[in-house]
Amino acid sequence: MTDSISLASKPCNIVVLISGSGSNLQAIIDDLAQHPTARICAVVSNRADAYGLVRAQRAGIAQHVLNHKDFADRLAFDKALMAVIDQHQPDLVVLAGFMRILTPEFTRHYAQRLLNIHPSLLPKHKGLNTHQRAIDEGDQEHGCSVHFVTEELDGGPVVIQAALPIQSGETAEDLALKVHALEHQIYPLAVRWFAEGRLQLSEQGAVLDGQHLANSGFQFHS
Ligand code: GAR
Repeated sequence: MTDSISLASKPCNIVVLISGSGSNLQAIIDDLAQHPTARICAVVSNRADAYGLVRAQRAGIAQHVLNHKDFADRLAFDKALMAVIDQHQPDLVVLAGFMRILTPEFTRHYAQRLLNIHPSLLPKHKGLNTHQRAIDEGDQEHGCSVHFVTEELDGGPVVIQAALPIQSGETAEDLALKVHALEHQIYPLAVRWFAEGRLQLSEQGAVLDGQHLANSGFQFHS
């Protein structure tokens, strides 16, 4: 089946959530230009100054800003966020550097259609400052993971991981640059798999092409 036929028969609508630079958003925009298996309907940011909004505008994608500080609490923000997202009837919601802890109400609402990218080899280094923590703990390798989002922070089933060796003397900034380059390869791939109907979340974990993936997901080698 060609890409154009699959798009005609079952378009996959994507909403991307960002908080910052949006380089992963850009990687997905660029990949979908080459492989039009899905359509980014909207980009939503919780920060008005997120550079990713400029990237969305340049690509002709609708943008929304929803400042979490305008809401009384986390749930009020998440409810408003769900209302904005659902205007676009997404098949998939992609967290691309969206730096907010999500409520269970939000993660349940998008269960099985919510992906995140995290800058570590999950389950190692959930949370923030992952590059420095990998160095401080003497890890020999580091990397990034795409995972389905569940109620557990950075804890949902891993879809794909890319690893790199940590060289002696490398700083967190060095690692961040290298990990970002890997993120830009694996996130578009995972999004494409989902859009093509090859990737699902089952009760046992992530499934690719009908096969259950191991806990650490598909191991990507560039
Ligand atoms: C990426 O490195 C992503 O892994 C990280 O934020 C960065 C966003 O970069 N996400 C998290 O830390 C989520 N816990 P980008 O805005 O250039 O795509």
